[in-house]
Amino acid sequence: MRSHLWWQHGVIYQIYPRSFADSNADGIGDLRGVLAKLDYLAWLGVDALWISPIYPSPMADFGYDVSNYTDIHPVFGNMDDMRELLRAAHAKNLKVILDFVPNHTSNEHPWFEEARRSRGSEKRDFYLWSEPGRNGEVPNNWLSVFGGSAWEWDEETGQYYYHAFLKEQPDLNWRNPLVRQHMYAAMRFWLDQGIDGFRVDVLWHLIKDAEWRDNPPNPDYVAGQAPYNQLIPAYSTDQPEILEIVREMRALMNEYDERVLIGEIYLPIRRLISYYGTSGDGAHLPFNFQLITLPWNARQIAAAVGEYEGSLPPNAWPNWVLGNHDQPRVASRVGLSQARVAAVLLLTLRGTPTLYYGDELGMRDAVIFPEQIQDPQGKNIGISRDPARTPMQWAPSTHAGFSSAPPWLPLGHDYEHCNVERQTRDPDSLLSLYRRLIELRRKEPALSVGSYRPLVSDGDLMAFVREADEGPRYLVVLNLGPRPGHLSFDALGSGEVVIATESRREAERVKDRLILTGDDALVVRLDA
Ligand code: GLC
Repeated sequence: MRSHLWWQHGVIYQIYPRSFADSNADGIGDLRGVLAKLDYLAWLGVDALWISPIYPSPMADFGYDVSNYTDIHPVFGNMDDMRELLRAAHAKNLKVILDFVPNHTSNEHPWFEEARRSRGSEKRDFYLWSEPGRNGEVPNNWLSVFGGSAWEWDEETGQYYYHAFLKEQPDLNWRNPLVRQHMYAAMRFWLDQGIDGFRVDVLWHLIKDAEWRDNPPNPDYVAGQAPYNQLIPAYSTDQPEILEIVREMRALMNEYDERVLIGEIYLPIRRLISYYGTSGDGAHLPFNFQLITLPWNARQIAAAVGEYEGSLPPNAWPNWVLGNHDQPRVASRVGLSQARVAAVLLLTLRGTPTLYYGDELGMRDAVIFPEQIQDPQGKNIGISRDPARTPMQWAPSTHAGFSSAPPWLPLGHDYEHCNVERQTRDPDSLLSLYRRLIELRRKEPALSVGSYRPLVSDGDLMAFVREADEGPRYLVVLNLGPRPGHLSFDALGSGEVVIATESRREAERVKDRLILTGDDALVVRLDA
């Protein structure tokens, strides 16, 4: 394991800072809140925190609309709080990864305010402007992810500007060398503060077709999906020039010690892997969202793991993500029983796992009444991300121990049962299962850095073997369905169950064949 870096053998934990812990009783989480919970994170055993944006922002998209890249929004604290958080996290061997949002700024960023002043403004070319069509219409058919056209008319200067997300989030022109210079300076600013890496927001959006060609219609679109899916974003995303920017970002990171460059990229495997670069000069970890985007089906997941493993360029390090602040909670997608199986899968696959706050408790999508919706995506196209962003459930007490004031989003209705305080005491809780999986993974080279060999995927069952140069081999068997099943593994001999979703099976000796009940997962240490 010593030959591997922290972001390879470690576990990443995503914190949505508005909802993690509130230290100053305004109902919104903050950096001092995170600071107060470092002991919990160390106890859980994770290695790194990725904190969603904490920069000054008008909060049109809750911080993904940045108005200053090198400061902290007062709602989250200040630079001193950030420095203290870094110091304290590092003292506990926890790394801190920041979100970086380079594709767009807020419309209240001084650059955009300057750019829209006149066509001749020195910052005009920092953004993407276009003349109207002949009848004043939008320059092309591109859609905003959050609904409607991706073009916004600017009355003052008589041009449209492009925004892949909200009109309050104008896209930057990454073909402009000055934009790159400024953004790289912001990255350096944080790296110099001691930040351990970045999760780069919508990395596959950075460059758009220079000729603004129309996107083709998506023949697979079905009514009810997000309107954005009506077109294939062939010209507005995933352009070859992006890889040049990724290489520049990576070169910058390489000037520092052991920092990690993570990219948010929703693309099919064959495209995703190009973001690793051609010779290890791209992102360290282009986020792999297959456990989120695929149906919860053993054959499809096993096939995708195989395809992913088989397509990785030499020396590229895999990674797996089970949930994030943009997606329904895993416990709501697959159910509470399968959430336990999902925990085993996430923490036994080869590659860096990323875990979303609260998923270790089985927090579910919360009920948010229409008048309570905060998320602009929810307001605009009816697909709200609020249910997965509710306050962390710490305790059965008032406001779930998140804050002493009413929180900015309602609490999950189950917080009195589903919370850290309770689950810490219960050896059979999901939280205890997560903790033990992380502990085992840390201890065993086979699980943290070993090879992956698929065994079977049959019906609802999926099984694989993990093996390293040192330490025992592990067999992982998962039942992704509710019906019982069995697995023959004669060629592997015998072993002992060390972790099971049903804890009574732990310490069970197994040989040649094993039986699984429904919603069952077993981690078996194979005899030498
Ligand atoms: C990313 C973020 C999401 C945000 C969007 C626009 O997808 O994860 O929360 O709304 O980018 O910045």
